[in-house]
Amino acid sequence: MRQSGSPETFRVKSFGCQMNVYDGERMAELLAERGMRAAPEGEHADLVVLNTCHIREKASEKVYSDIGRLVKAGGEAPPMIAVAGCVAQAEGEEIMRRAPAVGLVVGPQAYHRLPEMIERAARGERAADTDMPADAKFAALPARRRSGPSAFLTVQEGCDKFCTYCVVPYTRGAEISRPFNDLLREAQALVEAGAREITLLGQNVNAWANDDFGLDGLIRALAELPELQRIRYTTSHPNDVTEGLIRAHAQVPKLMPFLHLPVQSGSDRVLKAMNRSHCVDSYLRLLDRFRAARPDIALSGDFIVGFPGETEADFAATLRLVDTVGYSQAFSFKFSPRPGTPAATMDGQIQREVMDERLQRLQAAINRHQSAFNAASVGKSCEVLVERHGKLPGQWLGKSPWLQSVHFAGEAAIGDLVEVELAEAGANSLAGRLLESVVL
Ligand code: 5AD
Ligand code: SF4
Repeated sequence: MRQSGSPETFRVKSFGCQMNVYDGERMAELLAERGMRAAPEGEHADLVVLNTCHIREKASEKVYSDIGRLVKAGGEAPPMIAVAGCVAQAEGEEIMRRAPAVGLVVGPQAYHRLPEMIERAARGERAADTDMPADAKFAALPARRRSGPSAFLTVQEGCDKFCTYCVVPYTRGAEISRPFNDLLREAQALVEAGAREITLLGQNVNAWANDDFGLDGLIRALAELPELQRIRYTTSHPNDVTEGLIRAHAQVPKLMPFLHLPVQSGSDRVLKAMNRSHCVDSYLRLLDRFRAARPDIALSGDFIVGFPGETEADFAATLRLVDTVGYSQAFSFKFSPRPGTPAATMDGQIQREVMDERLQRLQAAINRHQSAFNAASVGKSCEVLVERHGKLPGQWLGKSPWLQSVHFAGEAAIGDLVEVELAEAGANSLAGRLLESVVL
């Protein structure tokens, strides 16, 4: 471990969900404001922040292999290592014990104190800060000054739902909504810094509310920002869907026609064991209401296969649900027993080979629907927000309103909203033909 000398350069490596990516950006901004420089890609950094994810075992184990790799690559002068994120929250003390190379551990609600902790670590005082003062963090962070065309904005954090498989209520704490005025200010700063699209983030983003209105009110207020062209939100929980949010999809043109609504399983028996407090039918009825409000809405979901006690019949019901909904994309995971969660010790744990096989079948079904959705888009024209250069010279990469990746060639610039005809569908992206350079 580096014992003396404050680090001058840093790198933040984020894993896991979009909220972790957001936290990683905020940590980098905080360090830059304190005079540190981001190390160029591939070069030595005096400080490496590993911004970790705890949601599944695989993600969680990564932190120890990354620490080992950093120590080895550093040779005589290894970097100062900070472990942040959800593994830090869940296993902070254990990391300090198991990995002496780690100089400090900071949880997702305490990273505004990172600069002070780095100073202490530089003096040889190792420390772990996993306090959860939910509202202190955001107020202590610097204003946003940089943004790409598509930006994240955390509006809600934490979870009170306690699904029996999930660590989030323990790592991110109870549900909190950030104050409206703070969010408006941050959104304004992002737009001034170049954001044309903002994705509102929360573990249960549609639980966001203040005394006067819910997420739909926030969306309507942000839609008033003239330079902001697109609004998205993720991840929603079926139980927090409101009539107002559904109506916003019909009434707010800047709200994109896309909904990520995890369901986890197509079997009511499994949903009950998961403590999901919705059933397959109520989920489908919700989707019908969204579709009635916005007929072209693209649907996405999350699935877990191999939850304890899941039978072949339960799994077949999940496959049926996928076929019924016709998702444009979806995420699927093998059940991972997380320490401290009820499902980890339930009877009927499923064998690895069975889970592997079910995951393959589920992913094949999801891919089939994704390909069909993309194929059905061919011939349509739509607006694409240009996010970056493509792989080929002269090629641009952006997103359709339905969150499909679209590449095309022609006169454009990063941050432009252009009109594109969708010409050819691949499995994961579409090739487009530029119709009109700047729609703005
Ligand atoms: N095992 C497997 N998948 C999980 N998820 C959350 N916890 C677990 C777990 N223990 C998945 C859910 C959730 C997504 C973010 O991660 O599908 O919606
Ligand atoms: Fe992973 Fe959940 Fe933490 Fe996001 S909130 S980084 S998904 S454990």
